[in-house]
Amino acid sequence: MKIVVIQGPNLNMLGVREQNIYGPMKLEQIHAQMKEVASQNSVEIEFFQSNLEGEIVDKIQECYGEADGIIINAAAYTHTSIAIRDAISAVSLPTIEVHISNIHRREEFRQKNMIAPVCTSSVVGFGPFGYHLAMMGMIQIMNEIKAAQEAQQAQK
Ligand code: DQA
Repeated sequence: MKIVVIQGPNLNMLGVREQNIYGPMKLEQIHAQMKEVASQNSVEIEFFQSNLEGEIVDKIQECYGEADGIIINAAAYTHTSIAIRDAISAVSLPTIEVHISNIHRREEFRQKNMIAPVCTSSVVGFGPFGYHLAMMGMIQIMNEIKAAQEAQQAQK
């Protein structure tokens, strides 16, 4: 089982940017923790960060046939990007979106979410711990898919 973690613009600045909102943890530290959980659960994990919309679209497309699930924090593109939304829809993989902050409690312009309607679920407002919750959720989803496939196979 392979999970690809996609991080959008300015998330490479975690630990520096608006610590009162996003906390002191750096992206590398978040990824190191996720890597540990992945190896404990025999999951392959890949990390990707980009500040560019098209590169994020390319990465989502690459997941098709390569990954079993996507965890994405599209950051500011969450609120604007039809292209990222369409890419998520196109690959049709279990996809969990994460937001470190509780976007529902923030500015008006963050209330629009282009991504959520095409994601399996959203984890919002738990700080960096949200990535851990997303991993747990994804492992659960993968296990359910596997169990359903096995049950179908047994019926044949
Ligand atoms: C964010 C919330 C977005 O509104 C913002 O543009 C980000 C980070 C979050 O993780 O809370 O860059 O996605």
